[in-house]
Amino acid sequence: MARRKMIYEGKAKIIYEGPEPGTVVQYFKDDATAFNAEKHAVVEGKGVLNNRLSEHFMTGLNAIGVPTHFIRRLNMREQLVRQVEIIPLEVVVRNIAAGSMSKRLGIEEGTALPRPIVEFYYKDDSLGDPMVTEEHAIAFGWAQQHDLDEMVSLALRVNDFLSGVMFGIGIKLVDFKIEIGRIYDGDFQRLIIADEISPDSCRLWDIETGEKLDKDVFRQDLGNLADAYTELATRLGVMPRKSGNGTGPKLVP
Ligand code: TMP
Repeated sequence: MARRKMIYEGKAKIIYEGPEPGTVVQYFKDDATAFNAEKHAVVEGKGVLNNRLSEHFMTGLNAIGVPTHFIRRLNMREQLVRQVEIIPLEVVVRNIAAGSMSKRLGIEEGTALPRPIVEFYYKDDSLGDPMVTEEHAIAFGWAQQHDLDEMVSLALRVNDFLSGVMFGIGIKLVDFKIEIGRIYDGDFQRLIIADEISPDSCRLWDIETGEKLDKDVFRQDLGNLADAYTELATRLGVMPRKSGNGTGPKLVP
């Protein structure tokens, strides 16, 4: 098949033209970056895992009525999604203090927050995605007040869903980031969850051991990132658990 036309290449994904208007194809690369791409590595298998994991979460959200861009998975690394106009704001929801919030406000990592906290960051790599307020977003025309209200509401619904899914497999959802896009249905426009939901953009801690099963494994050199993502995928039932010693198929006596 002729290669589709590339629309955009990001740090972890490539977007290609879709087979019909209003759709695009998301290709998940094996690249891992952190600290605004200062740190980079190719982690074999990461793209395949994130393709499956994002499919899993987006399908679940669609099923409970939280609109997402996901249409269907095409192959190991690609999924068909609705084309959206991305709102240039990263929406972060935090349940437990960690990462930049702990650093900025001096709150010890692991402190449970009294309620989920929603933050906005302006999507601009050259500025290092600075935190902004709703005032900035409105004043600079990135979104209107009703969009921001809807974004907070969507983000909190994703938080409830993902927290529950993770709790069911022995994992705490510490925080996560989502991106939201606009779609136009005739005269109407709607906001839907876009981009990806994967351990690249969440913090996930094992409830019993505190083990990290997210991109902090790469950011902080804690071990093999693909192993952490495979553990998550296995617990979710997205990937089968390897049997035996992992060296190949076993002969049945
Ligand atoms: P932070 O503590 O570094 O601000 O990150 C908050 C959450 O957002 C965490 O789950 C990781 C995710 N995140 C991204 O997905 N992309 C980014 O560029 C950053 C900085 C964080």
